Amino acid sequence: MELKKIIKEDVYEILKDFISLDNIIIEIPKTRELGDYAIPCFAFSKILRKSPQDIANMLKEKLNNELYEKVEVVNGYLNIFINKKILTEYIINKILTERNNYGNNNEGEGKNIVIDYSSPNIAKPFGVGHLRSTVIGNALKHICEKKGYKVISINHLGDWGTQFGKLIYAYKTWGDEKRIYENPIDELKNLYVRFHKEAENNPQLEDEGRKWFKKLEDGDPEALRLWKWFKEESLKEFTKTYDLLGINKFDAYHGEAFYNDKMEPIIAELDQKGLLEYSEGAYIVRLEGDIPPALVKRSDGATLYLTRDLAAAFYRKKNYNFAEALYVVGNEQTLHFNQLKLVIEKMGYEWSKDIKHISFGMILQDGKKMSTRQGKNVKLHDVLLETISLAKKYINERNPDLDNIDEVSRQIGVGAVIFNDLKNYRTSDIEFNLEEILKFEGETGPYLQYTYARINSLLEHKKNIDIDYKDLEINEYIWNLIFRLYNFPEIITKAKENYDPSEIAKYLIDLAQDFNKFYASEKIVDQDEKRTEMRLKICEIVAIVLEEGMRILGIEAPKKM
Ligand code: ARG
Repeated sequence: MELKKIIKEDVYEILKDFISLDNIIIEIPKTRELGDYAIPCFAFSKILRKSPQDIANMLKEKLNNELYEKVEVVNGYLNIFINKKILTEYIINKILTERNNYGNNNEGEGKNIVIDYSSPNIAKPFGVGHLRSTVIGNALKHICEKKGYKVISINHLGDWGTQFGKLIYAYKTWGDEKRIYENPIDELKNLYVRFHKEAENNPQLEDEGRKWFKKLEDGDPEALRLWKWFKEESLKEFTKTYDLLGINKFDAYHGEAFYNDKMEPIIAELDQKGLLEYSEGAYIVRLEGDIPPALVKRSDGATLYLTRDLAAAFYRKKNYNFAEALYVVGNEQTLHFNQLKLVIEKMGYEWSKDIKHISFGMILQDGKKMSTRQGKNVKLHDVLLETISLAKKYINERNPDLDNIDEVSRQIGVGAVIFNDLKNYRTSDIEFNLEEILKFEGETGPYLQYTYARINSLLEHKKNIDIDYKDLEINEYIWNLIFRLYNFPEIITKAKENYDPSEIAKYLIDLAQDFNKFYASEKIVDQDEKRTEMRLKICEIVAIVLEEGMRILGIEAPKKM
């Protein structure tokens, strides 16, 4: 039941000799007292040569649909009040039948979307810098799936490039096998840092690093063996972080190295199309306007980040025939993705338009970039553990007898981090404050989880007796909830259109607030069995949508907390 569409068509029926369907605009009034929907009649005034007020009055006379409980005319607006009983019964039945499929649709049926997200760099700590890409990408995956698309999630690991040549050189010169086994990521990072320190006084080292990367690209067995080992050790560490986050299902871990043997044909095609140019010791593709040329190959034959992304884009187009390819990567890579798109466009492929850089702002702590603290990289794993342990402390204070307190603490701690990351517009910077994100009140993950748990304990009183919707008195609290729930599918659509999970995060806060007002306004469970049962049905559909909304965001919903 698409209310806006129905209203539009009803109004159009009356005015069709004068206007087109697109002329009819439907607004949401500022307050519920002014109706659920409003139609401004000013634009019709000229054509009909009548005052907006007269037109609104005429529409009011002629509109005739049991879906409208009341129609009012105020200052040239036609205000429409939806029939509460009809919509309430419809929504309750719909959500109870569709359950977690509520809000699904088939817009994307038969179409593939590739989402490239998370993509941390091997031999470096999984820092908070990659948190946002991981959680935004994961939520977008669920959003696109709800719209019926088939999603292919790809972790484009940073596992190739000159830095690995440097690392191999550093390991061979100063490394210690045992220490790497004990503490791989930190040891590798130290070697990398040492390389750069020594290279300051000895620039020749840079050449050594490049040489080793060249060897790696050419398949030198020793270089390959070391690289593989570094990669395995790193992945073991990353997996622990992914497990904590509960985000660990990628369809492919195709890192940059995967494209090592897939770049040459593309470089050849660039050359054959006359796009490749040799300039200042490297092969480039010149781009229009003030966009710097794209660097695709160094004179020693070594390839670059962009070259691998070119190969990846072609590979993905060929293997997944995507309708859209999303790259969830921070703002600082805007130029890179512009160049990627433009090079493919210059090669003559119209699908370059389907490449979309989904950028996002930074995480700040006390107003400063959080990825480093006192010059040290902040590890995401440490942040998560810290949050989980504070969550545990809070739960112990509130509910010390809770079963599986460790698992619930993880769900709350991680939920807090994820929600904080998704509650603001994707492109804004976000502030990370441990105390704030874990509050049980306000715009937080724990607030949603707490509301959900509260509903679940109410639902224990459900008896599944038959009820008649005609007996349900719909007060303003219930009506706000019903209308909110009715809007859920539209929110999913908006989240997909803007590629922004914050649409859903904000919606869930509104829904939880609506629920808590309802909860505070009257006793939900009392002696009157039928009344109780009816109210519990409303609780149940709120729980279904809350749970599904949280699932989309990647937040788990414990039944008790
Ligand atoms: N590993 C890169 C980084 O950490 C992100 C990769 C994003 N994906 C891509 N296809 N370039 O900066």
